[in-house]
Amino acid sequence: MGWYDFFSRFYDRSLEALYVDARRRACEALELRPGQTVLDLPCGTGQSLDGLAAGVGTEGTVIGLDFSEGMLQRAKARVERNGWTQVHLGQADVHAVDAARLGQVRGEPVVLDRLHVFLGLTAFPRWEAAFERLWGLLRPGGRAVVVDCHAERPTFQGRMVNLVARAEIQRKVWLPLERLAEGYERRELPSRREHGGQLVLAVGVKPG
Ligand SMILES: C[S@@+](CC[C@H](N)C(=O)[O-])C[C@H]1O[C@@H](n2cnc3c(N)ncnc32)[C@H](O)[C@@H]1O
Repeated sequence: MGWYDFFSRFYDRSLEALYVDARRRACEALELRPGQTVLDLPCGTGQSLDGLAAGVGTEGTVIGLDFSEGMLQRAKARVERNGWTQVHLGQADVHAVDAARLGQVRGEPVVLDRLHVFLGLTAFPRWEAAFERLWGLLRPGGRAVVVDCHAERPTFQGRMVNLVARAEIQRKVWLPLERLAEGYERRELPSRREHGGQLVLAVGVKPG
């Protein structure tokens, strides 16, 4: 069992309340429209699915992918509880995900309108390559939102976050999006000591 399979047992209890506001802001920044298709990677236990499913509506599609089966089991239970027929979940390594995998999980070929990467880039092993792979899946004109925690020199709390989340919050995870996107914008979100650093939201559009 991997660390995140174990962490999944207490992930929602420890973290759900802490990120409600940031998740709402991420959904707003995505500017979701009914009928669109959005990829949530890593989807974790599905804490972002509520806003994403509402944003694309029942005629849209949310694809949630994660490496950890433990996290996915929680996400699947959440989807069943809420009856979200537009949400499709599956296992994937961000370093290997491709259009064929998205199509497999969706059950038909997918054109990706939106990309949502929430607390992922500080956790992925090769985060810059991971982002470029995800960016490659987004259609021209599609919009991407990245939210993560950052601290150049983590405090004790930040080091605890790194330890517990197997993360590196020192990474400037917005830089690939800044380099690649049009209409790029970065905002600092309201942050608490428990986040371990400054919450950052970056948004941009893939050139057409
Ligand atoms: C801090 S959690 C964030 C989960 C979710 N995005 C959220 O906001 O709650 C980091 C997630 O990254 C996933 N992860 C780590 N490495 C991965 C990889 N190589 N491919 C896909 N997911 C990965 C973990 O399983 C975990 O669910």
